[in-house]
Amino acid sequence: MQAMRFMQGKKIVILGTGGTIAGSAQHPTDNIGYTAAQLGVEQLVQAIPGLAGDGELVTEQIAQVDSKDMSFSVWVRLAERVNDLLEQDDVRGIVITHGTDTLEETAYFLSVACDANKPVVLTCAMRPATSVQADGPQNVLDAMAVVREHDTCGVMVVCAGTVHAARDVQKSHTYQLNAFSSGDVGPIGYVEEGRVRWIRIKQSGHETKSRPAIKNRATVKFDASWPVVEIVMSYSGARAATVEALVASGVRGLVVAGTGNGTVHQDLELALLEAKARGVRVVRATRCANGCVLPRPNDYFEDSRGMSPVKARIALMLDLMNAAP
Ligand code: SIN
Repeated sequence: MQAMRFMQGKKIVILGTGGTIAGSAQHPTDNIGYTAAQLGVEQLVQAIPGLAGDGELVTEQIAQVDSKDMSFSVWVRLAERVNDLLEQDDVRGIVITHGTDTLEETAYFLSVACDANKPVVLTCAMRPATSVQADGPQNVLDAMAVVREHDTCGVMVVCAGTVHAARDVQKSHTYQLNAFSSGDVGPIGYVEEGRVRWIRIKQSGHETKSRPAIKNRATVKFDASWPVVEIVMSYSGARAATVEALVASGVRGLVVAGTGNGTVHQDLELALLEAKARGVRVVRATRCANGCVLPRPNDYFEDSRGMSPVKARIALMLDLMNAAP
């Protein structure tokens, strides 16, 4: 209980967005047949021993969604609120409860859209809140432990006692509790009995300053102007028709999840070259879970700078937004 007291009397804000962590099933033994995003964040906190009634903890419900349905409007609402809170002197840090399915996308988006000079920690659960062995409560406690760490900042993800950087984290398992991986880069730390053991450089102001920044945060508003960027995958027998249809629909950018080191089926490649000639930005990522696309001389397409296809898509959307006059 003592561990939950905050040295400087500053508050930690928990923002709820839904997900399995807020999910409920009819039977406590059912870990897959549940409905996500049913319980409010305040209800979740009330159920965690040691957190209920903590005067320095504040909850706010930003959204209540199954994260497979995450939308730009929720992202913008979340980013605006996070930025507001980060500016408040009496806020020590922020925990965000989120579904696991698109958590890595929201984390990356926030890492670019917010000036995270304090810790912003996303957490989640693989089992619903009604489960006989729900993992959400411990994940929330671990996220709080990261927020309480002295001199840390930036957007991070905590799941199953592991701390990941927003840029590297990826959901890597459909069922197990330890569902996230940072690939060959590895996690940045572990939470053990309420203490954080940093194994890579502790995420600091220096690290977060090197991220690609949004030139003008005011441009990140939800309206029809978000540039449309889609992802196509290269595979055996891939056809040009997919790309042609997307270009005809007016996409501004395409990310290709290539094979291996970002190689692309010849038919798809021709269509992507044609798309590029028509002014569509094309970025080459890889469908491999580990490693990053290494640039080669005379590459036709820019590479994803080590980012997965879904994160490269977000980076490209924001880049196109930045380039807007
Ligand atoms: C979701 O992503 O909202 C549902 C699945 C999960 O949280 O594990």
